[in-house]
Amino acid sequence: MMLSQAYRKLKEIDDKFHLLKQGRWQDIMEIGAHQGGWTQYAYKKARKILCIDWIIKNKIQKRNIRYIECDVFSLSFYRSFDIVLSDLCHNMSGDKYYDGRRLACFYQYIKNRLPTILKKGGCLVCKYFNYTNITMENFRTIKHIKLRSSKDRSSEMYIICKGYELN
Ligand SMILES: C[S@@+](CC[C@H](N)C(=O)[O-])C[C@H]1O[C@@H](n2cnc3c(N)ncnc32)[C@H](O)[C@@H]1O
Repeated sequence: MMLSQAYRKLKEIDDKFHLLKQGRWQDIMEIGAHQGGWTQYAYKKARKILCIDWIIKNKIQKRNIRYIECDVFSLSFYRSFDIVLSDLCHNMSGDKYYDGRRLACFYQYIKNRLPTILKKGGCLVCKYFNYTNITMENFRTIKHIKLRSSKDRSSEMYIICKGYELN
């Protein structure tokens, strides 16, 4: 049973971009991990996965999964990962400008933290809305995707970055 429909989104991204490599011992940081669909997809391929969200119900009891329940903005990052996955999103207010700004803040926060949390050669997946301006640098390849598994009318997009060139 899928813990959330979001499972399909990460699977679609991985099928297309081949980020998670079974048996390659990747360490993954997952930000915005509740309700667990991405964790459920990723943990089988990861050496370790660190899952962060305010509150995480449906915790999967596996030795390679660690959960931290907190505000991501309050976290001190002290080690780096092979893959950073962010599906972070606040509750929608319905105000397009406000919602876009908030998601863009999450995006910018993660982008600023990359030198601390991502290993050289690492990958990033991060959600944003198609009506906000976002930028990214310091990766070998950068792609943007609107997923088939997202609703047609949704503004949700993902940036997929491979080959981090710093660190
Ligand atoms: C779209 S959901 C993630 C869905 C998840 N990827 C899955 O597979 O089910 C976005 C998540 O971001 C979390 N979130 C939003 N702001 C946060 C913050 N400041 N700190 C931690 N988590 C936050 C929400 O609690 C929510 O669970």
